[in-house]
Amino acid sequence: MTDYVTVTSDAPLGRTGAIKLHGREAFAGMHKAGRLAAETLDMLVPHMVPGVTTAEIDRLIYDFVAANGGTPATLGYRGYTHSSCISINHVVCHGIPGERQLKSGEIVNVDVTPIVDGWHGDSSRMYLIGDVPLKARRLVDVTYECLMIGIEQARPGNTMGDVAHAIQRHAEAHRYGVVRDFCGHGLGRLFHDAPEVVHVGRPGTGPELKPGMIFTIEPMINIGRPDVKLLDDGWTAVTRDRSLSAQFEHSIGITEDGCEIFTTSPAGLDRPPYPA
Ligand code: MF3
Ligand code: CO
Ligand code: CO
Repeated sequence: MTDYVTVTSDAPLGRTGAIKLHGREAFAGMHKAGRLAAETLDMLVPHMVPGVTTAEIDRLIYDFVAANGGTPATLGYRGYTHSSCISINHVVCHGIPGERQLKSGEIVNVDVTPIVDGWHGDSSRMYLIGDVPLKARRLVDVTYECLMIGIEQARPGNTMGDVAHAIQRHAEAHRYGVVRDFCGHGLGRLFHDAPEVVHVGRPGTGPELKPGMIFTIEPMINIGRPDVKLLDDGWTAVTRDRSLSAQFEHSIGITEDGCEIFTTSPAGLDRPPYPA
């Protein structure tokens, strides 16, 4: 049985396993945090070019988030010491920023998580570096479609399985693999909260969606098999078959008649190709 709890005060409420049903002030807070996440990803567009190191991108993110009154949730999170995750090509997620330079032809996910007034924004997008082969651009397009097709199912009365199924169906129609090992998650005053948001499933299964629920949808889609492996650094997840992987992430809140996306780009830069 799924447990729900209505959050009546704006005090932090810990992880109990119950799904929180948030009120107006949470939605207002999430809009602010989500907007900063989106503006951070917008800001990066001119910087995502060959020769830039991922540490330089991470530094731009830290500076921008701090200058706008936020703090990166990943700094110090479970021993993670960076302001973003930057995942190149066959890296599925949690790529660690470092001295690696971006190269023409690569596809790159940048995932940012600013905390603003105690609320967590969480969003990621793909960037195309220089000239990217059609096969990789197709993966990026379909992955964005998977996210938005999942979001279309996010409304009261539907279940998490409806969201998952829509994503899986679209990805598999293109013969892509949907990663099972990482999920979306509830968030708010907490970074990672119930429910777990899976990206594969059957219609009508899983928790029912109710107004006030706040969570991410963040499908990771591989050209090849769904299987991942963790590198020795303990963070970097890569496709086992070394095939390319893409991901987009939005933070959303369920309303009476659908959902609100907190992390939409104010500049219209939700997906590539981004104008030069
Ligand atoms: N932003 C990631 C997510 O979408 C979480 C990154 S946690 C880190 O949930 F520690 F790896 F940064
Ligand atoms: Co994220
Ligand atoms: Co997330």
